[in-house]
Amino acid sequence: MLSVIDIQTAYGAATVLKKVSLTVKAGSIATLIGANGAGKTTTLMAISGIIASQSGEILLDGEQLIGMPPHRVVAAGVCHVPEGRRIFPKLTVLENLEMGAYLHPRRGKPDEVFSLFPRLAQRRFQQAGTLSGGEQQMLAIGRALMSSPKLLLLDEPSLGLAPLMVEQIFRIIGEINRQGVTILLVEQNAYAALALAHWGYVMENGRIVLSDTPANLMNNTDVQSAYLGHEA
Ligand SMILES: Nc1ncnc2c1ncn2[C@@H]1O[C@H](COP(=O)(O)OP(=O)(O)OP(=O)(O)O)[C@@H](O)[C@H]1O
Ligand SMILES: [Mg+2]
Repeated sequence: MLSVIDIQTAYGAATVLKKVSLTVKAGSIATLIGANGAGKTTTLMAISGIIASQSGEILLDGEQLIGMPPHRVVAAGVCHVPEGRRIFPKLTVLENLEMGAYLHPRRGKPDEVFSLFPRLAQRRFQQAGTLSGGEQQMLAIGRALMSSPKLLLLDEPSLGLAPLMVEQIFRIIGEINRQGVTILLVEQNAYAALALAHWGYVMENGRIVLSDTPANLMNNTDVQSAYLGHEA
């Protein structure tokens, strides 16, 4: 579904992505792991058109996304849940969800989001700023689903959450994928991400250095010592 081919991206004079290529197959979950500053967030921002790529191609079902403004990338079916969630704190849970469907022809229904996230259903009239961190992450994902995306880009959905909440978020990401949404997941929690994904990429200093099945990556001694927190 998604083919990123040799993209290069810079902040001013500093080239951050150096010929990054990756693919995400329709119906799958791919995960992108790597150290702080490797370029994971930049990769997602390049796909969603928030930052420009100087060269390369980004194809969604064959359609070129490079050069499209972000709102057209969303209309093409890509929805990006950024690091740090960015919900509207003064609006209610339901109003936040409605904002996610705003201007989208294929809009989703709050009840579909509520069936995935029962905790949000209970809090539908609560101000979003009063939710816990995990509930805000659920809301950010739920709001993205309101645009009925083909491809969901998730940037560190488990960041800063308590272990039980991390487990729930990963379970729900799996559920969303089983409902037919293709997912590119960026995570620091490499073990949980690889356990869920169908394919994995490892990024270092703006380059993809490994591309393999999650099982092979988990068995790779370099990956183990760098990202899985144990020596081989
Ligand atoms: N707005 C910016 N201006 C200049 N440089 C930036 C900007 N945002 C990121 N960078 C630099 O680009 C590189 C890649 O950053 P990026 O945020 O993509 O990494 P990341 O893999 O998402 O890291 P993290 O795990 O910390 O989220 C880093 O060297 C970072 O310092
Ligand atoms: Mg990041």
